[in-house]
Amino acid sequence: MQIFIDSADVSEIKRAAETGNCDGVTTNPSLIMKAGRDYNETLKEICSIVKGPVSAETVSLDADGMVKEGIAFSKIAKNIVVKVPMTVEGMKACQRLTKKGIRVNVTLVFSANQALLAAKSGAFIVSPFVGRLDDISQPGMELVKDIKLIYDNYKFTTQILVASVRNPIHVLDAAKIGADIATVPYSVFEQLFKHSLTDVGIKKFLEDWEKVPKRK
Ligand code: E4P
Repeated sequence: MQIFIDSADVSEIKRAAETGNCDGVTTNPSLIMKAGRDYNETLKEICSIVKGPVSAETVSLDADGMVKEGIAFSKIAKNIVVKVPMTVEGMKACQRLTKKGIRVNVTLVFSANQALLAAKSGAFIVSPFVGRLDDISQPGMELVKDIKLIYDNYKFTTQILVASVRNPIHVLDAAKIGADIATVPYSVFEQLFKHSLTDVGIKKFLEDWEKVPKRK
């Protein structure tokens, strides 16, 4: 399973990339607002750090506007993927951008039928938002399971990207289900490396190493 960083913070993305475990990046208007920088400039910088897919989100509500924004984003770098929302207009834009050879990530997906339509519209990636479903007491991972089943049934090649990840258990469940990608906030990315027993183990080994007789 690929792991993407869900962030528009260049310093976080650099740190994640240095580990060799960052396969791509997802951004959205809220994340760029947090970063407090120009969107296009930031995307350009992110694309120079991470060679995998970097999602850039459109903000138009009509297909023409989304296509126009998407074409402009696609000129920033080869690895840009254009995000459009799961709406009727979004699906029109998805088909038009896909026909032009621009890869599309259909975002804000909360039902398996929406994911089916995204795949039928030629999406490169579909983004079910598990955390926001959990927030309203609907198990987000059940949605991922349903999408995986439907995509397998019909051999859709659209990649399932588990989004709105809140904790390492979401990542584990995504991997067990066989999702293609999980996009994770940097704080969750860091947690994936850690286990308290690893720290205890390192401490003990170092303490014992100090007691080993060494040749001068
Ligand atoms: C990523 O593509 C999504 O925009 C993001 O994961 C949403 O996360 P949130 O629900 O924490 O805002």
